[in-house]
Amino acid sequence: FVRVEADPENPGVAVIRIDRPKALNALNGTVTREIAEAAATVSADPSVRAVVLYGGERAFVAGADIKEMADLTHAEMLEYSRALQNALTAVARIPKPVVAAISGYALGGGCELALCADFRVAGAKARLGQPEIQLGVIPGAGGTQRLPRLIGPARAKDLVFSGRHVRAEEAREIGLVDRVVPDEEVYTAAVALVAKYVDGPAVALAAAKETIDRGLETDLDTGLEIERLHFSGLFSTEDQKAGMRSFVEEGPGKATFVGR
Ligand code: CAA
Repeated sequence: FVRVEADPENPGVAVIRIDRPKALNALNGTVTREIAEAAATVSADPSVRAVVLYGGERAFVAGADIKEMADLTHAEMLEYSRALQNALTAVARIPKPVVAAISGYALGGGCELALCADFRVAGAKARLGQPEIQLGVIPGAGGTQRLPRLIGPARAKDLVFSGRHVRAEEAREIGLVDRVVPDEEVYTAAVALVAKYVDGPAVALAAAKETIDRGLETDLDTGLEIERLHFSGLFSTEDQKAGMRSFVEEGPGKATFVGR
């Protein structure tokens, strides 16, 4: 159900393509495991410099698989939800720029998967939301944690308490998506958003991502310390030497990076 594909027109961009159309890409156990595997594959492959999460035109992901979950016991759900959270966390930890290209529904676990990307591009007709309350539960794949961190607690509570679907334009207004484009341009616009980083200093980009994400989970002093250590660590990279030498010799913005 999940493939890692190269984007033919943008070398260095990999696409994690979720493809379970009969269930609007709902996350069953297999899809969840394959998403974790795809995250590990793109994380480990040095030729991949940026990643797009894409579910096709009709749906990004319509949530965790309700039919599969409906009869699980408490004990079974403890393990099921661990696998789901671990898979999405593996996506959030991909040490490269990641964008979610959202066409159609991104609901429940689908919205939570999109929250694991660095950026979200939505088609004009996309619908996002956390409808779990309408099933008598709460988001269980990071929605109660990543959503308020992105859009603030009151807006997150509005979405989680009501379970309502948010249209793309409102999602942009509240900071849930970064760009809204015509539906047929979602994939191209999402690729364009991250393709500009493929020739960048990969180690510095990974450090920037990890420092921002880890820093948001801690107090300011600890965050600043994480920053200082990553910043200093970059002085062991070829790209730092190339970047600063190029500035001194040729002026700003002319460096060529090797990604090491
Ligand atoms: N789980 C299992 N199957 C799903 C599904 C889901 N989350 N979402 C859609 N499907 C299935 C439908 O059951 C249907 O299957 P059949 O053809 O076999 O009946 C097929 O996908 C097409 O869906 P619809 O016929 O419902 O399509 P629609 O266009 O009428 O409606 C929709 C689309 C509004 C997205 C609707 O399918 C829907 O509300 N889906 C559920 C959304 C949801 O509640 N997501 C949260 C899941 S819980 C969760 O994610 C927990 C968590 O935090 C980890």
